[in-house]
Amino acid sequence: QAHQVSIKVDATQQGPVINRDIYGQFAEHLGRGIYGGLWVGKDSSIPNTKGFRNDVIKALKEIKVPLVRWPGGCFADEYHWREGIGDKNKRPVKVNTHWGGVEETNAVGTHEFFDLVELLGAEAYINGNLGTGTPQEMAEWLEYMTSDKNSTLANERRANGRDKPFEIAYFGIGNEAWGCGGNMRPEYYSDLYRQYATFLKTPPGKMPKLVASGGDTSDTKWTDVLSSHIPLRMVDGISYHFYTLPKDEWKDKGDALNFSQHEWFTTMERTYRMEKYVTDNVAKLDKNDPDGKLGFYVDEWGTWYNPEPGREPGFLYQQNSMRDAVVAAVNFNIFHEHADRVRMTSIAQMVNVLQAMILTDKEKMVLTPTYYVYDMYKVFQDATSIPFTIKTDKYAEDGKSVPAVTASVAKGTDGKLYLALVNLDPTESASVKLALKGVKAAKAVGQILTADKMDAHNSFDKPAQVKPARYSSSLDELSLPAKSVVVAELIP
Ligand code: AHR
Repeated sequence: QAHQVSIKVDATQQGPVINRDIYGQFAEHLGRGIYGGLWVGKDSSIPNTKGFRNDVIKALKEIKVPLVRWPGGCFADEYHWREGIGDKNKRPVKVNTHWGGVEETNAVGTHEFFDLVELLGAEAYINGNLGTGTPQEMAEWLEYMTSDKNSTLANERRANGRDKPFEIAYFGIGNEAWGCGGNMRPEYYSDLYRQYATFLKTPPGKMPKLVASGGDTSDTKWTDVLSSHIPLRMVDGISYHFYTLPKDEWKDKGDALNFSQHEWFTTMERTYRMEKYVTDNVAKLDKNDPDGKLGFYVDEWGTWYNPEPGREPGFLYQQNSMRDAVVAAVNFNIFHEHADRVRMTSIAQMVNVLQAMILTDKEKMVLTPTYYVYDMYKVFQDATSIPFTIKTDKYAEDGKSVPAVTASVAKGTDGKLYLALVNLDPTESASVKLALKGVKAAKAVGQILTADKMDAHNSFDKPAQVKPARYSSSLDELSLPAKSVVVAELIP
């Protein structure tokens, strides 16, 4: 018996715009996320532009990456920007204390990062060092990047090859201050934030959106304290992190492949907690910032599994399956629902780390199921959400449940009406009835991502096991196979 779902769309109304920055990415100095995955150096035999792999850049351009967060994560609070500029041979070699204790050559620094975002046509989200830096170091980095004057710092940037100031869309003041960023209390961090932010200066009109580093998972205190202790004129958004661990336990998180149906369920149940966590945090923002100035930036999210046997555990490399694709789509539908506050997110992380878009092995590259969901959902970037109500059966196990199907409806920047549907159940199909008000359509035509096996995935040997196929259905009854993601245009 298929799950029964009915959706009523009211196209006479409009909801908030779905900021394209919801589709942001995160690239930390971690494992092979940057070195090997994105950057191979100009002298590599792997075809590259300014040291960045052509194959990876081409694939990322295809999904229209709107922004990249860099250099961390935990790494950000031990990053000293001066070590990543100037002659590469003179840059200090550090130990990456967080991620595998490997050598960090600083070969990718500020200028290289901007090469990357400019190659991608993306915006920059720089994460500053509050944990081990000083207000002076942070202020000078911002001046170095953005000044158009003849200041010594701006001239140093010019001498390093960049005349025009860099453009920065977001600037984060520290990361996970409750943990790797300094084990602080939110009250103490708020005071430090106020101090650091005071000295961040740019030419008129060039100030990035300033991000206060907030809480994680079920916590709402960080959002509450930060949004009440930091004057609203000094901050544009509060960040928040939530990872999906199938077993909800850091010692044994669950494996990326060969998992049970029970673990599929727990993964979905834990992913769907995002809905409550966002709602609860947004309630704090609504209390402290009733005019809606602050964004709620989910700048780390995604699946986090056990490390693969035989690999450096600190590199956080994991395979990516049909389950990850469904996790991504479920999160997108939640972010769209809260698009008035959720104005930016960045999945952890872009290449070779955690829930990645792309995996590489030397010269080989493979696109993950998550990549394809980003590709299918790109029509929602800057789309205007359309209100709808959904009645759906539950997907349940052991007294716990999630909706069997979640959805999004929006009018794209191309003027077309798009519908996204995801069936969370790995064994039952769903039958969706769609009622439209204010618009005439008879068919849904687009793409579907699905697979026979729960852990179907793309590998270097078999790179095309999971990829989108054409989808076409009458609107009288849309059929959604088990564990599937559909993005379709609604047409007459
Ligand atoms: O994404 C990996 C790590 O997870 C980040 O460095 C940190 O911010 C979080 O704990």
